[in-house]
Parts: sequence; structure tokens; C-alpha cells
Amino acid sequence: MSYVKFNQRFLGETLGAAAESLRGKAQEQLINLMNKTCLGAEWTGWWDYPKQRGFELEEEIRRYVEKLDLDYDLVLVIGIGGSYLGTRAVTEALLHSHHGSVRDHRPMIAFAGHHLSEGQLIDTLELLETKLPLVNVISKSGTTTEPGVVFRVVRNYMEQRFGKEEASRRIICTTDAKEGALRQVASQEGYASFVIPDDIGGRFSVLTPVGLVPLALLRLDTRALLEGADVIFRELASCQGQHPVLSYAAARFAAFQQGKRIEILASSNPKLSHLVEWWKQLYGESEGKQGKGLFPAGLGYTTDLHSLGQYVQDGVRNVIETFLQFEVEVPRRQGVEKRVRVPAQESRLDQLAYLEGRLINEINQAAMQGTMLAHFDGGVPCMQLTLPELNEHGIGALFAFFESACAVSGSLLDVNPYDQPGVEAYKKNLFALMGKPGTEALGAKLRERL
Ligand code: PA5
Repeated sequence: MSYVKFNQRFLGETLGAAAESLRGKAQEQLINLMNKTCLGAEWTGWWDYPKQRGFELEEEIRRYVEKLDLDYDLVLVIGIGGSYLGTRAVTEALLHSHHGSVRDHRPMIAFAGHHLSEGQLIDTLELLETKLPLVNVISKSGTTTEPGVVFRVVRNYMEQRFGKEEASRRIICTTDAKEGALRQVASQEGYASFVIPDDIGGRFSVLTPVGLVPLALLRLDTRALLEGADVIFRELASCQGQHPVLSYAAARFAAFQQGKRIEILASSNPKLSHLVEWWKQLYGESEGKQGKGLFPAGLGYTTDLHSLGQYVQDGVRNVIETFLQFEVEVPRRQGVEKRVRVPAQESRLDQLAYLEGRLINEINQAAMQGTMLAHFDGGVPCMQLTLPELNEHGIGALFAFFESACAVSGSLLDVNPYDQPGVEAYKKNLFALMGKPGTEALGAKLRERL
């Protein structure tokens, strides 16, 4: 019995059978991954990372945080793509939904450097002003424009407010070991720094210092996160061709072969919305190349049933849908489970008497089940992924599940899941339009076209 339950009954007969027949091929790709004979093998350091390096590193990071001799009530993470999405996925899932507005014993977390909106950067600077911030700037290459520019602004602010010496103690860099502009800056300014391993790419890096440092600064249970991931790696290492990771990867590939072009990851808990964002980046950047790959889309129910649900039910039939849920999603407060039921009421004018006494979660579950059946009946093949509990352990397992399935499913598509050549096109144009030395000719051509 696997940690993640996988239900493919609603794939439909044809797709279900095709998926089953591809499971052997998926197993071959898993073996290639484990033996490091797959395409992009030099980027597979994320596989089995907790045991290889993660547990030891997690202890080091925890000790570093315990010894930090600084007051802080805000952690500002500056990073883009794989350098922030995983951390955001965990914090949104596990911190209070109104984190920052309600009283909490943890520092607050905020994110910057994942866009170039001046308006939002002004808001962030105003937030910093009301707090005692610690800044964790994260960039593997150390040369990405968005976090680079924002870090310049924030560093300038920190130095003006705290002076150079204290600012340097309030800035932590997470970047590669040797090369890259950020590594040089960190050495020159004496910032504390953590290393992103050479053999792990951004979108596979959440369990490295990329995620572990900010999550430890927030005093989340990073050990449990790694333990959850480790469960999946151990299951896969001994699975003999039977594992939900293989079934999920095979089903996605079979769907692509049968003309499906979009996979929706749907959840009914708004706290999972950034897990869905993390998943979108993982699959979009890993598979969307050479004219291949399912477009990863995310929907939040029941909210989106009152908007895009119409399209899913009734639009172009090139969609498959995966429902993601945790058996226990209700947060505990100081270990105590809180529940909300529909209260009894004398007046029955709202016509909701039949729901009296029912848990809100029960209604949500019924909505999800009803939605899956409706979408299946409308011609959308559906799968279901269920994990035991929404906590660090469960999220760690989910990270390892999706990373492993992505590696297998990218290999089935015969693409290298670890590169992202397509991302360079916009960067080249941005540099040229902003006048980076050496790009003058392209800049002139682009301006002509605009
Ligand atoms: O998955 C990837 O490699 C990318 O999404 C990167 O994480 C993203 O481009 C940020 O890169 P960097 O960490 O080098 O700033």
C-alpha cells in the first residue's frame, strides 16, 4: 500500500487500458533514473536527496537558525521560479490563511523578486519598514534579472536602515557553490550563505537549502518534510513496477498520445493553490518542449466551478483532470482539531435545513465527488491523488511524488526534463530592449517591430 492513493477508475476504459499497458515503459524510465542512465542524468541529484545529503544538511540549517543572534519578525524571500515556488507552496499550505493579519507565534513570510512590478515592490518596501526583516535571496545562477534587480533595491534599503554591518547579518544568500554573481557578492559582503547543489535544477530544488533555509527560519518542521519525501523515494526504489508514480506518469503519457493537450490539477482547498503553482512550473518547464507536453493548468474548487468549470464541463475535449486532496486538511491549533458545522436555525427560509449539523468539509467533499463524476460524464478523463494529512510530512511526500512522476513522464515523452531552452527567448529580448552591452543590434530590430 503506497503513501499516496491513486484512483484511475475515472480515466475511462480506453485511456485506462492504454495507461496500464504503458506502466512497464514507465518502470524502465524509473530504473534509468535510479541508475542515472536517463537523459539529463547529471541533473538528478534530487533523487533520494534526503538520505544522500538532505537529513544532514537539515540539521546544519536548524543549528544555524537556533544560533542566529538576531530578532526578526519577517522573512523576505527573493527568488523566482524554482527558487521560491516550493517554499511558497509549503507556507501557504501550512501557515494561517490570514498569516500576517492574525497574531501568530511565527515570523511572517513575504516573497519578492518573482516579477517586475514596481507597484508591488513599493508595497514590499513599505512592509519591510513596519517589520524587523531577514532577507533570504535565492538564485542558483545568481544572474536572473528579476531577483537580481529586486535584491539591489532591498539591499540598498537594508543598508540605509540598519547600516552595512547589521544589514550584512540580516541577509542570507542561497546560490551555487562557486560561480555566479550572487556568490561573489556574498563573499565580498560576508553574508551567510548556503549552497544549491550543482546537480539539482531550480524546479527540483525545494528540498535543498532553497526551501529548507526559509522554512527553518519560520520554524516549520523541515525534518518531517524530508521524511515525507524519503517515504516516496524508498517506496519507488523497491516498487517492482507497481506504484502510483508510475501509474500517474503512464496515464499522462497515454493521454498525450490520445490527443489530450491540457492537464488540470484541481484542489478544493485554497491553501493548496501554491502547491498547484509549484506543480505547474515543474511540469511546464520540464515537459513543454519540442512541440510536446500537456499544458499544466490549475483550478481551485469550488471557486472555479463558478467560472472555468463551464469550460471544463463543456468546452474543447482535450483535457484531463487530476483531483488532489489530503484526507485531513483541517488545521490543528496547538494540537487541537477545530471543526465547523452548519448550525441549526429556526427560520428555514434559506432552504439549507438538510445541511444542518454537517461539517463544511463534508459538503466540500461531496462537491469534489460530484464534480469529478460530472466532468467524467462530460468527457474529461479524471484521476485522483489522495494523501493522508496536510502537514510537512504530507507535502514532502507530494514533492517527491510529483518530481519522480515528472522525471518518468518527461522521459516517456523523450524530452530532457531538466533543461528549459525556451525560457531564454524572452530573456534575450529583455536584455536587448534594456540596452545590455552587446545586444544593440537586436535591440534596434525589436524596437522597429514594436
Ligand atoms: O527550474 C528552473 O531552473 C528555473 O525555473 C529557475 O528556478 C528560475 O529560472 C530561477 O533561476 P535562478 O535560481 O538561477 O535565479
